[in-house]
Amino acid sequence: MKDLDEADLRSRVARLSLEQKVRLLTGADFWALYPEPDAGLRRVVTSDGPAGVRGETWDERDTSANVPSPTALAATWDCERVEAIGRLLAHEARRKGVDVLLAPTVNLHRTPFGGRHFECFSEDPLLTARIGVAYVRGLQDAGVGATVKHFIANDSETERMTVDVRVDERTLRELYLAPFEAIVREAGAWAVMAAYNGVNGSTMTENPLLRGILHNEWGYDGLVVSDWTAARSTVPAARAALDLAMPGPARRFGPWGDALVEAVRAGQVDEALIDDKVLRILRLAARVGGLDGGSHVPPPPVDIPRELRAAGAASFVLARNDGLLPLSRPELGRVAVIGPNAEVARTLGGGSATVFPPYTVSPLDGLRAAGLGVAFAPGTLGHLRTSAARAPWLLRPGGTGSGGAQVRFFSPSGDLVGTEQRDGAVFRWMSGFGSAGTRHAPEAIARLEISCVIQATEAGVYQLGVSGLGRFRLLADGTEVFDETLSMRPGADIAETLMAPPQRLAPLSLAAGQSVTVLLEHDVHSSPMAGFGTFLQLNLEVPHGTDDEEIAAAVALAAGSDVAVVVVGTTAEVESEGFDRTSLALPGRQDELVRRVAAANPRTVVVVNSGAPVLLPWAGEVAAVLLTWFGGQEFGNALADVLLGQAEPGGRLPTTWPASEDGLPSTQPDGGVLSYTEGLFIGYRGYDRDGREPLFPFGHGRGYTTWSYDSVTVDCDVPKPPGALLALSPGGPIPPDPPGGETTPPNPPGASVAVCVEVRNTGARPGREVVQVYASRPDSAVERPAKWLAGFAAVDADPGETVTVGILIPERAFQHWSDGTWTLEPGTFTLSAGSSSASLPLTSTVTLK
Ligand code: BGC
Repeated sequence: MKDLDEADLRSRVARLSLEQKVRLLTGADFWALYPEPDAGLRRVVTSDGPAGVRGETWDERDTSANVPSPTALAATWDCERVEAIGRLLAHEARRKGVDVLLAPTVNLHRTPFGGRHFECFSEDPLLTARIGVAYVRGLQDAGVGATVKHFIANDSETERMTVDVRVDERTLRELYLAPFEAIVREAGAWAVMAAYNGVNGSTMTENPLLRGILHNEWGYDGLVVSDWTAARSTVPAARAALDLAMPGPARRFGPWGDALVEAVRAGQVDEALIDDKVLRILRLAARVGGLDGGSHVPPPPVDIPRELRAAGAASFVLARNDGLLPLSRPELGRVAVIGPNAEVARTLGGGSATVFPPYTVSPLDGLRAAGLGVAFAPGTLGHLRTSAARAPWLLRPGGTGSGGAQVRFFSPSGDLVGTEQRDGAVFRWMSGFGSAGTRHAPEAIARLEISCVIQATEAGVYQLGVSGLGRFRLLADGTEVFDETLSMRPGADIAETLMAPPQRLAPLSLAAGQSVTVLLEHDVHSSPMAGFGTFLQLNLEVPHGTDDEEIAAAVALAAGSDVAVVVVGTTAEVESEGFDRTSLALPGRQDELVRRVAAANPRTVVVVNSGAPVLLPWAGEVAAVLLTWFGGQEFGNALADVLLGQAEPGGRLPTTWPASEDGLPSTQPDGGVLSYTEGLFIGYRGYDRDGREPLFPFGHGRGYTTWSYDSVTVDCDVPKPPGALLALSPGGPIPPDPPGGETTPPNPPGASVAVCVEVRNTGARPGREVVQVYASRPDSAVERPAKWLAGFAAVDADPGETVTVGILIPERAFQHWSDGTWTLEPGTFTLSAGSSSASLPLTSTVTLK
């Protein structure tokens, strides 16, 4: 990245009129910023993030590599791998004409009820920071901007547009701000997104923390962009350090535009503030190659399937294994693959993070492709809502094409103005219809018609219908099935409208092989969301037995097989932006399914396919439990690799896996206020304080070999990784790396503590171990968690091999926030090393002044 020419950027700002400058401060459309030829600025495009790069079209016509969910990335505890994922995303961004990714999401797992838990990394600020820094470096080193979000305390979804989070300053600094601080200072994030919520009485797009902390303390020179529609006032938002209101244009969204020009003219907003905002936009543009026809270095090509398959395996947490895994292929006869998440891959969570992958490998596909003798039984329905119609039942009109439909768009005067041939039945048109070249404004389309053929594979009752908002008329073979207006639940969030809109189904009895011609008509403006977008699906539930029948069939299959692999989990409709979970239980009768299958076959592996923790009340009753997150498009292949021992289950829990819902922080505001009454005590810090036992502790995960922890030494020689944030004084700059050197001498005085841990692979296979170091301060005069993660590193070792790993503990790990500053309580800290927060066999101390 070459240095920016700040004088040049300022001279470009000076060339613009007030109107030109203010125009730049609101998006040009839903995803892009305005171009401004007078400043040499081209159109700069943003896109979500974080599990793939969606691009400007949000459907199957423009597919995106779907990487494992952020919880999975954090579960790797592998910064190099995450940095490579960042590069892969940069590559995707460039392929799709995207300059700035709206990711990573570095809010914390305050509670597993949080709807976007899958989209955030961890409950621990240090792990979140390390993974976040790696993700941002991977993206930005390849010339694509990262947008670290959502600043700040946007850790749950209920009332997310209005909730006021009350959190004390120490908790804010030590937990929630810590990942943002590390990413801004170390990785130099080019953009930060201001959240929807308020903190301590002020909405985040107007909050003094933006200027006070981001600008003034951390020296942030990047852009602050609002979350979509989060900019709510003309003057206070302009006076705050908010630079860009998204989406646009201003005549439809956002409070700036002409009103801001007037406010500047009336002296309510200083024009210097406007200049600073424009400067930050130009700085971002310069960084992504958006000035003067500037270009960027194309990121190196990546073998996407290979990388995603390896990343999936590296994220899977083997939470329990009585020796059944890895499966021994030569002895393996029939493998029963059971469960609602086995046949359809659940590869991502819901909301703005959703992308359309080019393909997905389900667990069933993956195990089949591995050459196993597989038999399948769904066991029970895991989804609570009927999914979109798909192949082989869905065909284009005339019965051609695979899995498709035709859409026809009509103007208000009834003229046919466009058609689309589609390969699926999920439709999302954001602020307008059609694609580039044939774009129609939302008001230009009054009605649309979706036509397809549904073909029965077996005789039975099919449930056919629609999800969406507004008026829908469904016809089957020319006969009206229903004509209804669907309305959203009062108070529902826009993301809920997207992920779980109301659904209307009707039964259709079909003979095997029978086809029916389907026509769905929709009056676009009957939807209250029409100005924003039109989101609808054509849904189809194919015939299946009752849960009792399906569970009985699955049990019989398991009983007659060598091993049962039960894949349970959630879906993007259960875990999503826009709403929190109200229960952590697996949907439907999945717990019963697991128990009955395990009773029928003791060789049962349960694969848990969810982005966030779910309750596993049977965990002690099954031979093995593998937690696989939302595994991205290569999920099934990665699963086969791990089950068969071709890859290590590399993951360690980035978040405590609860045994019950008791004692977890609430997401429910009271009178519009959500108080973080638990303070510092989230995740393992809360379990330790309360003496509660989780199901699986933070940091836990087994590989396929065993390790002994042999010694720990403090103040050993550990080279400093370039750019690491070792010493911090509040408001101070990042200590520069010395010129010419890759690394600094070990242990710059007072900056950090180096810990060396010696471990030995005591098993029969090569393996990878994540060595974790926790700090504690038993005699502290300050209230503190019993222990907190202070550093970690991974080692690889062959059987019998002893390896010493060096871990630098940053000074910040020993500091606490007190009276408006970072403070070190002089005295002796304990440093404990081990394989999880609950297994720390080695202990040493360090005395700090
Ligand atoms: C989400 C953001 C996202 C934005 C644009 C918002 O609803 O909170 O995370 O980047 O939409 O899709």
